[in-house]
Amino acid sequence: AGGRIVVVGSLNADLTIYCERLPQPGETVHGNGFAVNPGGKSANQAVAAGRLGGHVSLVGAVGDDPNGHMLLASVAGAGVDVGRVRTSTSQPTGVAVIAVDAGGENNIIISAGANGTLSPADVAEAADVLDGAAVVTLCLEVAMPTVLAAAKAGHDAGAKVLLNLSPYAHIPSELAGLTDVLLVNAHEAALFLGPGASVPGAGAHAAQWDAVRERFAERGIRQVLVTLGAHGSVVLDSDAPANRTVVFVEPTSVSAVDTTGAGDAFTGAVAVRLAAGDGLADAAAFASVAAALATTRKGTQAAYPEAADVERRLRAS
Ligand code: RIB
Ligand code: NA
Repeated sequence: AGGRIVVVGSLNADLTIYCERLPQPGETVHGNGFAVNPGGKSANQAVAAGRLGGHVSLVGAVGDDPNGHMLLASVAGAGVDVGRVRTSTSQPTGVAVIAVDAGGENNIIISAGANGTLSPADVAEAADVLDGAAVVTLCLEVAMPTVLAAAKAGHDAGAKVLLNLSPYAHIPSELAGLTDVLLVNAHEAALFLGPGASVPGAGAHAAQWDAVRERFAERGIRQVLVTLGAHGSVVLDSDAPANRTVVFVEPTSVSAVDTTGAGDAFTGAVAVRLAAGDGLADAAAFASVAAALATTRKGTQAAYPEAADVERRLRAS
């Protein structure tokens, strides 16, 4: 199963309504189904990694409420160690209100609840698991000082630090410097690089992506995975030989019913393959398939594939 993966961050109960199309501001639309599912980017990433055979611990916080119990059961059910998920006595479990349209696209509002209480002290409490980590996986649904503390702990332990820049926020340059692999979609890449840089869309040439790679390297980030939704992903690796600094990962064609958490499936899968010793491009190829399969079922954690499903699909392509 490879080295230990420690995911530090959020858990949310996802309150999802499925609808034909997403409402415009001021508009009400009819839904055609409602579900409460386990979610939250970090919990999703941990479950994705656990289901794919990773050796995973999650560091986070939930409330003392039914949503918290549901989340702990879901995460533990994927074989993830939840011994470092604290139960907050003051805040309820985090919640995400999600709308998913007929094409599987979504929009999401999150309310942090207990996630907002996760602090550098919780990271310090988890020193025993962080010390032995091969990979530390982070997102931006918990406070920046907490993310920074976890990145430092991971870096000091000699782990690879994976940062999923989602939901997008400005990050201090210190965090960029501690990040080994940045995971972004095209939108987040553009926000990170700022108005001066143009991030190309699907079908762009390697030379255009190589310019993007250089911009990231100037900001201290040498390895970047850019997910392009149904168009696959791009590996930007400033540490690779000159003819391998840009690698395209072809899309896996599926019919998507719910893309919520596909990025988290990608991130968890990358963590598993890096912890097992894969190179970045191989990890991205595996993760691309895992993320595509995750969109074929409703929900996030409930939809994530097992390693055998991903390998079967990889062999078929
Ligand atoms: O990335 C998907 C996740 O974002 C959902 O599970 C929701 O909880 C929000 O955190
Ligand atoms: Na899904």
